[in-house]
Amino acid sequence: MRKPLISGNWKMNHNHFEAIQCVQKLAYLVGKEDFDRADVSIHPPFTDIRSVQTVIDADRLQFILGAQHCHWDDKGAFTGEVSPSFLSKLGVKYVICGHSERRELFGETDQMVANKVAAILRHGMTPIMCCGETLSERESGQTEAKVLGQVRAGLAGRKPEQVASMVIAYEPIWAIGTGRTATSDDAQHMCAAIRHAVAGLAGADAAASIRVQYGGSVKAGTIAELIAQPDVDGALVGGASLDPDEFARIAKLGA
Ligand code: 13P
Repeated sequence: MRKPLISGNWKMNHNHFEAIQCVQKLAYLVGKEDFDRADVSIHPPFTDIRSVQTVIDADRLQFILGAQHCHWDDKGAFTGEVSPSFLSKLGVKYVICGHSERRELFGETDQMVANKVAAILRHGMTPIMCCGETLSERESGQTEAKVLGQVRAGLAGRKPEQVASMVIAYEPIWAIGTGRTATSDDAQHMCAAIRHAVAGLAGADAAASIRVQYGGSVKAGTIAELIAQPDVDGALVGGASLDPDEFARIAKLGA
């Protein structure tokens, strides 16, 4: 069955010194038996990735290296952007794309997200493609239209076996950084709806294999109930991933 994936998205937090300390502390707290039950990825800022990779390699840690964002072209005149090929060379395995902060604050469109999904896969990495509705969209009954529209746009043109390998993170925007978590019923409902949409786009096998995470104010105290839902295959964790003690307890699935 689908192994849960717990991902720590540090956003724009932790310089590379703090990143090294954080990973070393996590290494003491999360053990082999925990990695047997869940995959755990860490998504530091770009400037920390090389440092974190060195710690993971030197200490043979089971944390999986991730990134928060990338461009879709391999190289070119794109000042400030980072190529997916550079990330794969650094040993990055998972790349977040389409995060609501990138969509809302930096104008990323569905088409850009689809381009990134294609580029990440082209370089042998796994996209964690985010989708989610605002509070006003939720209150006006547009949650499914918004979220499933983002899913369809982001997966457009991808082969079923590519879709099967991916991760989709359902992150309701009103729950991000607010302390408001979707109820486990709500999370299950939307993760199931996403899986159903994937079945329609890429077939039943892809839908059975793709991992659907929930994200939005996940804490050690809420992870167990979320992960117990049949269609919730892990969590994309922001604020709580900055504290190694808290994130370790999430990586242990609340145990
Ligand atoms: P919080 O866990 O801080 O709500 O952030 C969620 C998120 O945006 C992860 O990508």
